Amino acid sequence: MKTLLRTVPALVVLALLAALPAAAQLSPVELLGKELYFDKSLSSPNNQSCAFCHEERSGFSGHIPGINKAGAVYPGAERQRFGNRRPPTASYAGDSPVFDYVCFEEDGEEECLFVGGMFWDGRATGWVTGDPLADQAMGPYLNPVEQNLPSEEVACMIVEQSKYASLYEEVYGMPIDCADYHGDGHLVAYKNFALAVAAFERSVEVSPFDSKFDYVLAGEAEFTEQEAWGRQLFNGKGRCSACHPEGLFTDFTYDNLGVPINPENPFYRMDTVYVDGMPINPEGAAWVDPGLAGFLETLPQSVFDEWGLDKETAVAESLGKHKVPTLRNVDKRPGPGFAKSYMHNGSLKSLEEVVSFYNSRDAMIAAGMIVPEVWENMNEDELGDLGLTADEEAAIVAFMATLSDGYRIKDKGKDKDK
Ligand code: HEC
Ligand code: HEC
Repeated sequence: MKTLLRTVPALVVLALLAALPAAAQLSPVELLGKELYFDKSLSSPNNQSCAFCHEERSGFSGHIPGINKAGAVYPGAERQRFGNRRPPTASYAGDSPVFDYVCFEEDGEEECLFVGGMFWDGRATGWVTGDPLADQAMGPYLNPVEQNLPSEEVACMIVEQSKYASLYEEVYGMPIDCADYHGDGHLVAYKNFALAVAAFERSVEVSPFDSKFDYVLAGEAEFTEQEAWGRQLFNGKGRCSACHPEGLFTDFTYDNLGVPINPENPFYRMDTVYVDGMPINPEGAAWVDPGLAGFLETLPQSVFDEWGLDKETAVAESLGKHKVPTLRNVDKRPGPGFAKSYMHNGSLKSLEEVVSFYNSRDAMIAAGMIVPEVWENMNEDELGDLGLTADEEAAIVAFMATLSDGYRIKDKGKDKDK
């Protein structure tokens, strides 16, 4: 399945692996992006940067164990406001193609899928800047449940007055002009900020490709027996590589795994918190995450016409589907006991739990142990009843732990992330 989509990212990665990174040396545009990524003054109140929800030590995902253990969703700069989903990693997102509906041939049969874009539901498409990652970076600064700035103009003026304003001029060959004679100087600048943030996210500081897995592929480290076995299972009996192919460990497609609801998600309580006179979540506890369907719903029929699709059908068939996330840095954490959370709603709390879910989902549902958030469109082909033994489950977990960045050749054999 999906062989075509699988090979493309793998090739990209192989090219990158040819030269494992030396010490991080950022270019001017990457440095500008780094400033913008860490600048808390780009929020209202001035207490939140991108790193608040995407911290390196936790694999560029959420860094507060108490939140990860429970609702898994992070508050905005206005701390009583919450969005609806768990922050995914901001690393290795740079190779997601522009969102599209793609058909290809597989064993003589045509298969068509939605692919690419950014966010769990793909709504940062890349249609604005040509780059999904830059489209994404235009969101958080102005999102009222995230950094909450009132406008592009205000963002522009904060950067104009910052100590790194000269970096902008060096990168783009013109000073920031938040009110130039076209009147859209602030929009030009805002888009350029997003492009710089995307450049930083693609840099060796955020996406260094220096995990144990990368060193093994480069012939400079060796897997333990358990890790090597886990890799085999990952690509074989566990069927993980059908959607998380080696390389970037995502094929950028969408699926509904039947992930259980996270009852502690604070979004269910957002019917009592208001932005501009409107509750953040009018549906309250009755809200169900539509995933990809929610984004498709916002598109006009004309877009579906171009894809040769009927909108209503496409939306119905996408309910509950979420983007396949990269598994790079999935086990990255500041210390052994540090709690993380997984899936779009953070309902699963450890990699052991994740693998056991894939292995035994169907039995768990039958026993009433879990209830899928969305029953429609649930993938019954590639997961749910894998027949893995406990040792096999553990081996797959051990393999995923080799995907954490920061493995150094001098630690070879010591397995520094454990
Ligand atoms: C309040 C927490 C919060 C802040 C602040 C925040 N993010 Fe996120 N980020 C999220 C959440 C939640 C998602 C997933 C949202 C969704 O899919 O609907 C996300 C998604 C992303 C993604 C998509 C990854 C993927 O594979 O789809 C990237 C990249 C990203 N954020 C980068 C950034 C950048 C850059 C900033 C700063 C400009 C930022 N984030 C600020 C919470 C946050
Ligand atoms: C049919 C495609 C598919 C297969 C097969 C698959 N996955 Fe996934 N994986 C996904 C999707 C889609 C998500 C996100 C689902 C969601 O959040 O609702 C995901 C999420 C994950 C996550 C959580 C990552 C995060 O950042 O939250 C892990 C870990 C993971 N998968 C590991 C595996 C392993 C291990 C296997 C094999 C045993 C596997 N996957 C098989 C599609 C797949």
